[in-house]
Amino acid sequence: PLDTTIPDPALIVLIGAAGSGKSTWASTWPSTQVLELDQFRAMVSDDAGDQTATVSAAAVLHSVLEARLARKRTTVIDATNTEAHVRAGLLDVARSYGVPAVAFLVSTPADVCVQRQASRSPARAVPADVVRRQHAEAAAAAPHLHDEGFAHVLCADRTHRLELLLRRVSG
Ligand code: CTP
Ligand code: MG
Repeated sequence: PLDTTIPDPALIVLIGAAGSGKSTWASTWPSTQVLELDQFRAMVSDDAGDQTATVSAAAVLHSVLEARLARKRTTVIDATNTEAHVRAGLLDVARSYGVPAVAFLVSTPADVCVQRQASRSPARAVPADVVRRQHAEAAAAAPHLHDEGFAHVLCADRTHRLELLLRRVSG
């Protein structure tokens, strides 16, 4: 059976390659609940695509995440989150504040993720080999997310989109 449970409060960790549609999904939450790593890169460097700003941006993102979870505010992390050590850092914060974590897999086919880069500005486009690596990491991680510590694992693919949205609307 499909798990569509999102507790409140929750830490919702979006997981998906560049171009998979994470930010599109994130836009269905109130904007103040969404922490988008690209925005934090822009805040610290004036350039959302500057990968050298990632460590600083992630540190500020974590600081805001801690402040929010201390207040038991539902928070969505809009970043690829395909690397296990990145998810582990987020799970540590959720655990220390007693907030359940939800993995939200955005499982768009790799070819579609790659094609979507073509319509982006060169500064924002992610190289195809990087997109495919992120996609493979997400697919490999999927069966292990429960064991990593996520209380619920949701899969936001095309088939499940409608059911998830209906559940969200009906509370
Ligand atoms: N898109 C689409 N149909 C969807 C979801 C997304 O056509 N169901 C399009 C969006 O309009 C956007 C592109 O696909 O042009 C990428 O979606 P986005 O949400 O920006 O993907 P992200 O996963 O957020 O990409 P990134 O990691 O690079 O921020
Ligand atoms: Mg995005």
